[in-house]
Amino acid sequence: MQTILVGVSGGIAAYKTVQLVSDLLKKGYDVEVIMTENATEFITPLTFSSLTKHNTYVDTFDKHVHYSVEHISLAKKADLFIIAPATANAIAKVANGIADDILTTTFLACTCPKIICPAMNTAMYENPVTMDNIAKCKSYGMKVVEPMSGLLACGDVGKGKLADIDTMIEAIEIYSYKNKPLEGKNVLISAGATKEAIDPVRYITNHSSGKMGYSIAKAARNMGADVTLVSGSDLKEPYGVKVVKIQSARDMKEAIDVHKKAADYIIMAAAVADYRPAEISDHKIKKAGDMTLALERTDDILKGLGEDKTYKLCGFAMETDDLIENAQRKFSEKNLDMIVANDLNTYGAGFQTDTNVVTIITKDNIEKLSIMSKDDLAYEILDRLMEVK
Ligand code: CTP
Repeated sequence: MQTILVGVSGGIAAYKTVQLVSDLLKKGYDVEVIMTENATEFITPLTFSSLTKHNTYVDTFDKHVHYSVEHISLAKKADLFIIAPATANAIAKVANGIADDILTTTFLACTCPKIICPAMNTAMYENPVTMDNIAKCKSYGMKVVEPMSGLLACGDVGKGKLADIDTMIEAIEIYSYKNKPLEGKNVLISAGATKEAIDPVRYITNHSSGKMGYSIAKAARNMGADVTLVSGSDLKEPYGVKVVKIQSARDMKEAIDVHKKAADYIIMAAAVADYRPAEISDHKIKKAGDMTLALERTDDILKGLGEDKTYKLCGFAMETDDLIENAQRKFSEKNLDMIVANDLNTYGAGFQTDTNVVTIITKDNIEKLSIMSKDDLAYEILDRLMEVK
């Protein structure tokens, strides 16, 4: 189990850190919380202790703590240290090696990855002193999760809101993930459904949510890759991934053509439409009795990618009948290195679900995996694709 140290400095956003800690615990991390004195004006140490089942550390000479050099003990057991919220004052201290309370002493003593999540008034954030301090933190290898723009507690509107919880958790997942076999590699992934316009109001699409492709994008990112995700899905954009939003199969092909040149691995998890309306009406089509829609074929993007490969190529096959035969046919017709086959009729597989049940087919292997979350499966897929000769 990994230990995350959460440093809480004295800003109103400290109340959001309670949710961050709770979500980290649910994800299976061991969490230790360190607060500045000022932070305890906004939220009590007891709130965090009740969640973490650990003492919450506030000052260096806490009489209730059994060991005397707790900042060193905490620093040694930490897999990652995140300061959220990080006030201008806390940032100034850690940028300059000032260690005058347990939060900053432990931070200085930590050799693990460190994340800073600034939260403050816009003018304080944009002050060149703060900007310089943040740049200095980055130059020392600390990661900074940028604040968001919006209405701040002080009534101003601007940049300075603490990043949202999901973004902070994704940053923690990236920087605490120690196995980085895809460092220096470019991974191009497609996800979600395409939408083929009929007229300005209507389109043809399918049930794909994009969850599988998004899980693969996050896993590849955590494994160290530079990830580009070409997406027809409305899911929240993953932190640290380049997302190119598309509508139609034609848009998806164009985006993939741009990015394929740099790719070491391409994974087509998208449910690309096979047909589009032969003509798109400029005006809303008015109803008048029955109608027939003429459709034409879209390009098979994956098949095109199979010609002149300079990358490892993985496709998906979603079937309702003859899973292995159909997937094997697609594997050879599209000149793939790997295909991930799933049967829509299998419990726990398919569109919209958080789990999947797949068979992974390569040139010399057919491997049926048991049901697992799409997040876990993403790592299995990437591990196997890296192994393909
Ligand atoms: N695919 C693609 N371009 C298309 C259609 C599919 O790149 N126009 C890709 C999908 O992203 C997937 C793979 O091809 O990785 C297989 O898609 P699937 O819909 O299962 O099969 P099809 O090739 O469309 O064949 P069929 O409709 O006959 O099952």
